[in-house]
Amino acid sequence: MSDEISIAAGNATAPGQAGEGVSPAPGAAGRKVFVKTYGCQMNVYDSERMTDALVPQGFSATDSVEDADLIILNTCHIREKAAEKVYSELGRLRKLKAARAESGKQTMIGVAGCVAQAEGEEIARRAPVVDLVFGPQTYHRLPELVTRARAGESVVETEFEIEAKFRHLSTPSSAPAPTGRRGPVSAFLTVQEGCDKFCTFCVVPYTRGAEVSRDVDQIVAEAERLAARGVREVTLLGQNVNAWHGEGPDGRAWGLGELLHRLAGVEGLDRLRYTTSHPRDMDDALIAAHRDLPEVMPYLHLPVQSGSDRILKAMNRRHTRDDYFRLIDRIREGRPDLALSCDFIVGFPGETDADFRDTMDLIERVGFASAFSFKYSPRPGTPGATMDAHVPEAVMNERLQELQALVAQQQKAFNESLVGTSCDVLVEKRGRNPGQVTGRSPWLQPVQIDADESLIGEIVAVEITGREANSLFARRVAGQDGGQAHPQRVRA
Ligand code: 5AD
Ligand code: SF4
Repeated sequence: MSDEISIAAGNATAPGQAGEGVSPAPGAAGRKVFVKTYGCQMNVYDSERMTDALVPQGFSATDSVEDADLIILNTCHIREKAAEKVYSELGRLRKLKAARAESGKQTMIGVAGCVAQAEGEEIARRAPVVDLVFGPQTYHRLPELVTRARAGESVVETEFEIEAKFRHLSTPSSAPAPTGRRGPVSAFLTVQEGCDKFCTFCVVPYTRGAEVSRDVDQIVAEAERLAARGVREVTLLGQNVNAWHGEGPDGRAWGLGELLHRLAGVEGLDRLRYTTSHPRDMDDALIAAHRDLPEVMPYLHLPVQSGSDRILKAMNRRHTRDDYFRLIDRIREGRPDLALSCDFIVGFPGETDADFRDTMDLIERVGFASAFSFKYSPRPGTPGATMDAHVPEAVMNERLQELQALVAQQQKAFNESLVGTSCDVLVEKRGRNPGQVTGRSPWLQPVQIDADESLIGEIVAVEITGREANSLFARRVAGQDGGQAHPQRVRA
């Protein structure tokens, strides 16, 4: 996971797309909003919904910060120095705001996301350039907050109202993408927010609040709208997505497995993914969905954080390394081509060399197609922050390097193992060079294919002909196009 994902959020750039039937607020037409997104995919999703929510106010998204009348930093607090990064960005924006003011243009600056939730008033105090501070559960109220800020109020909103957010956030419109441009073929869909797990290193339960699941009807309606816009792949998002639960139309209690079955039935949706999961919440129905639903891609991000039982306990993960091994075996039994990705933390307080060896051993035994790894960073307010036996920085660096080298080797071996095999690829956009398109394999690697742009939005059968560190090369082969048979790893 990168700390800074994207600059502009905007699927609301086309006038009339989102918020149809709502006239712009008087005198407000033509304003531009720029959202800079840090952190996880949920922030990417939220940034898009914020932009959508502002369309009725006459805003449209811009890629250029200099042109923006409203600049929002959608922040992340998960690891080190998050707040400091935000303050230094605000220093730059202060100059931009002053320069725009000289040419008679008003600029509003907002801080959203988990740093806003954690810091609240402190942001407004330290950075008076900021007009509004609002936490992740308040985005549905953004139009009202912007109006209040425009009237000169210094707005700070950090209430927890997830259900209200789910009810009110505008969802992507079903209007077709403007002619000549295909809508995105792959989209995020938030189904759950917050977390009750309280891992001792993690700030999420404090910034995103308690676990709340979105209703089945809302999720299905949004999936149908996305599919109607040409989306073929949906990634369900939640901080602890496999804790999602709801009441099905049959009146029974549903978990993520049942939800995946329902979404697999949505016409046009051919690929389903979900992230991020906790090993304790992989129930039988979800494991069965991996076996039974060809739409569920054989790629699973399942963080374990550490391979040492002692450290897992100190982290309050509430599972052992053996539980993890058994779980992976069960999922792979039904889906032998499953590839795994993971998160690891090195240097959690008290982590000895033997604990770290256990983590390396777990990686050897499981084999990962990719992994994100981090040095432990104490987050204020979490139990980990007050634990003793800090691991020296130099030791953390060494461990991180060693772990990353092993994962890189495994990733290379995994990509190499695909060369000469065939699989389906969802073509997403133009490729690196003219005459090429880029798509995603079932295992999420980018794949460069020599083929025409008219294939964007299609699922095509390819043979993998080569690989680089992070991507694959392929050529089209006849036979399986568009069929969503189990992606095959058969030697061609
Ligand atoms: N220090 C280091 N890494 C962390 N993560 C979460 N909190 C911390 C922390 N305090 C990592 C975990 C998590 C990922 C999103 O970020 O590995 O799975
Ligand atoms: Fe944080 Fe994930 Fe643990 Fe929840 S399950 S506390 S989000 S690491």
